[in-house]
Amino acid sequence: ILSTLDKDESISDTRRLALVADADIPPPSSAEGQQAIQGALSSLSSREMVTFETHEDVSYALKPEGEQIAREGSHEARVWAALPAKGKGTPLSAKEIIQVVGAESAKIGQGKAIKAKWIEKDGAGFVKATDKIQDTTQLDLQEIQSSGTVAAGEKVLSELKKRNLIVLRKSLWYTVHKGPQFSTSVQKPETDLTVDMLTSGAWKTSNFKKYNFEAEGAPTSSGALHPLLKVREEFRNIFLEMGFAEMPTSQYVESSFWNFDALFVPQQHPARESQDTFFISDPAAALPPPKAYYQSVATVHEKGGYGSLGYRAPWSTEESHKLVLRTHTTACSAQLLRKLATQPGGFKPAKLFSIDRVFRNEATDNTHLAEFHQVEGVIADHELTLPDLIGFLHTFFSKMGLKNLRFKPAYNPYTEPSMEIFAFHPALNKWVEIGNSGMFRPEMLEPMGFPKDVRVHGFGLSLERPTMIRYGISNIRTLVGHKVNVDWVENSAAVRF
Ligand code: PHE
Repeated sequence: ILSTLDKDESISDTRRLALVADADIPPPSSAEGQQAIQGALSSLSSREMVTFETHEDVSYALKPEGEQIAREGSHEARVWAALPAKGKGTPLSAKEIIQVVGAESAKIGQGKAIKAKWIEKDGAGFVKATDKIQDTTQLDLQEIQSSGTVAAGEKVLSELKKRNLIVLRKSLWYTVHKGPQFSTSVQKPETDLTVDMLTSGAWKTSNFKKYNFEAEGAPTSSGALHPLLKVREEFRNIFLEMGFAEMPTSQYVESSFWNFDALFVPQQHPARESQDTFFISDPAAALPPPKAYYQSVATVHEKGGYGSLGYRAPWSTEESHKLVLRTHTTACSAQLLRKLATQPGGFKPAKLFSIDRVFRNEATDNTHLAEFHQVEGVIADHELTLPDLIGFLHTFFSKMGLKNLRFKPAYNPYTEPSMEIFAFHPALNKWVEIGNSGMFRPEMLEPMGFPKDVRVHGFGLSLERPTMIRYGISNIRTLVGHKVNVDWVENSAAVRF
């Protein structure tokens, strides 16, 4: 490039650059050659040694079958050529045509030749129907072969493209001029201004490499939020904009008292067995809960009260003090509700939420692990009703895009009534269970010290399920555990409901 510029001042078409003898570079007439030239040009122009313009050329080239037709004629012309003129020889049967021109040409060519009225039936065989044909397919292809296109225009080109005989080739080529720093030899420009250059004065004459402001920096390594935490942030935002305050949930280990008893879960309930719950063996027992409250909880279980018969089953202090990995964040809600009921100055309405980890001793599969996150909310106010809860859930879930809800009666030991929440999932085209909810029972609220007219709504859902749906994940181990791909975590998109 540099020696051509030195000699000729400019290069009008880089495809016509002279071949460099025994250099290991592709010829300038080829696409690879122009690619190599483009690399050289951008490096030379960054040193201002050359300036250049880019041009795009669109042309057509023949595919192997197109080349064969350009050489030997179209299939229909080959069939025509194989046949005798009418009355001047024995007509050829379809079988004989195959023998002469081959199966491929016979298959395509025979029909086309009949349609073009080049050949016709004569008894059991075929003969020429005309003594002269114009094989336009061959002529068009020959024209493309030599000029890259046809004068006949677009219609012919698209027909040949459809027949898979030609392909479109886009190629780039360049016009080049001398730049302000033109020279026939490439000096390695300086990339750093050094102390030596400053003291010797060499900087005055040094040739500095131009700063490339377009260059992308190397990706910096950084921390990244796990997808679960991104979805958690969205839930948190919904709660906060609806006026909820976040509950503390830092304690994974709870007493059975707070995890179960305070919630009026009977001590004989199957969920309290070791196949469902992880028990802690050391320390063996929890610190005792507030005495008077403990006593009222024990009483309501054993004997009833507040209009309830209770479970009328023996109460065990030992059972109550067993430590567990909390099986739900409702254990945290219970403690906060008790505080709310007994706070100085008396009860005030409140909306509280938490999003944290819970543990269940369950068989694990693609969608279940022994630990997951619960999103939980409680609302306490005077005279709340079930329609209030349903209305609230509609508002809450519509903020995450779920506008179509259904409720199904369910059972929780601590809520009555209880409702499972279903949402219609447009992408999955079905109703999916998304949560559980209810109104906390008086057997739970009244021992805590709530005024009689205060009702408390509660609801919970998992964080994993919406996250999996959001990220299109079908195996929970993609999300949690030792198989999680850290790159995927770093590159996972932000979530907006
Ligand atoms: N604790 C329930 C669960 O684990 C969720 C829930 C919370 C239900 C509050 C009702 C009230 O599914």
